[in-house]
Amino acid sequence: MLKVYPSMLSSDFANLRDEIRALELAQADAVHWDVMDGSFVDAITFGAQVIAACRSLTNLRFDVHLMVNNPAKHIPAMLKAGADTIIVHAESDPHLHKLLTSIKEQGKNAGVAFNPATSVDCLQYLEGLVDFVLLMTVNPGASAQAFIPSPLNKITQIRALTNAEICLDGGINDNSIALCRAADSVVSGSFIFRHNDYAIPIKQLRTLWENAQCA
Ligand code: DX5
Ligand code: ZN
Repeated sequence: MLKVYPSMLSSDFANLRDEIRALELAQADAVHWDVMDGSFVDAITFGAQVIAACRSLTNLRFDVHLMVNNPAKHIPAMLKAGADTIIVHAESDPHLHKLLTSIKEQGKNAGVAFNPATSVDCLQYLEGLVDFVLLMTVNPGASAQAFIPSPLNKITQIRALTNAEICLDGGINDNSIALCRAADSVVSGSFIFRHNDYAIPIKQLRTLWENAQCA
C-alpha cells in the first residue's frame, strides 16, 4: 500500500497541535517537516524548537527534510527534537558519506534528497547508509507547484543501486499520483491540506496509486 506523508509546509502554522492530531486521525503514515533556511532555498520555515514542541503530540514518525546549507550543523538539534528520519540534500554537502554515517550512528533513518536535475549516481558509493531516497518532483522551496515528471526516470537506476524506500516529493495530487506508481511513498502538501477532512485526499491518493498498478 502507498505510504502518504503530509508536508507540514502546507499546514496552518498557527494551529500545529490540531493539524497533527488531524493527520493522525486521517491515517497519515508520517509527518513530513520541510525545514528551510532561506539560503539553500529562499523560504524560511521551522527549526528544531518547533519540531520539538510537536514531538509529544503524536507517535507518528517525524521525517525532517533539510533544505538547508551546511546540514551537519543542524542534525544534532533535529535528532534532539525527535526526528526519526533525517533527509539531507545531495547538493547541500560535499561530505555525504560522513553525514549519513553520523545519522545512522544515532540509530535514526538516513535519507538523501535529489533535486530534479541531480543524478542519483552517488548512491552506488553509499551502500548501507541510505534508508530513504527522496526524489524531488518540484524545485524545492515552495508548495503548490506543478509536478515535474522527468525525475521519475531515476527510479529504475535507484532500484538497481539500493533497496532504500523511494519517495516522491512535490506536486503530488489526484492527477499526478498515477505517474508515481513505481514509487513506494509520496509526500503531499497542498493537495491534502486544501481539504477539510484530510482522510479523503490521503485515501484518494492510495486508491488512485493502487489503480495505476493494474493500468
Ligand atoms: C518543497 C517541499 C515539499 C512540498 C510539497 O520544497 O519539499 O515537501 O512542501 O508540497 P506540494 O505537495 O504542495 O507540492
Ligand atoms: Zn519536502
